[in-house]
Amino acid sequence: MKKGRILTGDRPTGQLHLGNYVGTLANRVKLQDEYELILLVADYHSLTRKIDKEHILDTRQAVRDVVLDNLAVGIDPEKTIYYVQSDVPSVCELHLLFSMLTTTPRLERVPSLKEIMDAEHIEQPSYGLLGYPVLQAADILHVRANLVPVGKDQASHVEVTREIARRFNFLYGDVFPEPDALIGEVPTLMGTDGSGKMSKSRGNAIFLADDAETIRQKVRNMYTDPTRIRADIPANPEGNPVFQYHDAFNPNKDEVEDLKARYRAGQVGDVEVKNKLNAALQTFLEPVRERRNYYASRPHLVDEILAAGAAQVKPMSEETVRLAREAMGLSSAIVR
Ligand code: TRP
Repeated sequence: MKKGRILTGDRPTGQLHLGNYVGTLANRVKLQDEYELILLVADYHSLTRKIDKEHILDTRQAVRDVVLDNLAVGIDPEKTIYYVQSDVPSVCELHLLFSMLTTTPRLERVPSLKEIMDAEHIEQPSYGLLGYPVLQAADILHVRANLVPVGKDQASHVEVTREIARRFNFLYGDVFPEPDALIGEVPTLMGTDGSGKMSKSRGNAIFLADDAETIRQKVRNMYTDPTRIRADIPANPEGNPVFQYHDAFNPNKDEVEDLKARYRAGQVGDVEVKNKLNAALQTFLEPVRERRNYYASRPHLVDEILAAGAAQVKPMSEETVRLAREAMGLSSAIVR
């Protein structure tokens, strides 16, 4: 018996990296046994940022990359439903109905809106961008999910979802659960340059799909304490990305504690610390890469997974839309 239904997912932004793993993927791997897990790839949401045809066409490869990375880390397609948002367009009807249940000032207050506008140099949000959280509410509620594991930047969207569910239920009767957000507690993984968060756009990421040699080089060039010019200088492992990665990815805790102790005492060189990190990352990423290659070289499998997913989500979605229409009195069964 499952504890409930999860809906979560990603915008198709391309290949995922170690920061994404620690932030969300690890959580999904863990939850897939206890919950019914539905993963969406939010391609409609990508349209809120860029609408040129070229970008839309590029999105199709990005969709596949996101699916491959989720498969690669072990989110099992036998247990989990994978689907592409635009393959189940009935979500759009729910989006329309929901768009009447919130106000524009409410949506203008959602913090991510300003962030997206700044990042993408958007002067005025389109109607669609303003409605980004409303579409997300429809994603969550068209399958009537009750748990939404997301990063903390998405918490405000789940809050909008809860408000919409409450408002709908108040106006028309109980149709929707009020889903809870499950915010990962993980500290943000630093980039290899130590400058802040790992992110694709900053060029400081180790990707799940990187090959062994690329990983080795990225680790070798990683930022460490610049004041420590010799191995016999005692230094602090806190705030050093090399040690943060050891904590996150090296399962040999004794080795990590030993390295930290010797680092504090000025008895270990960066080369040894990095070599051991490289070994740990290779061990972690090798099966991930193998699984990724397995699916990447069998594109028909990914097609089948996505087709099966859409076929499973469609009836759930259509049933929800039917219930919503009925509750609102929109039913086409006209009383004469
Ligand atoms: N907005 C999410 C992000 O950028 C992606 C997303 C779309 C999503 N719909 C969702 C996440 C529904 C969770 C639930 O990461």
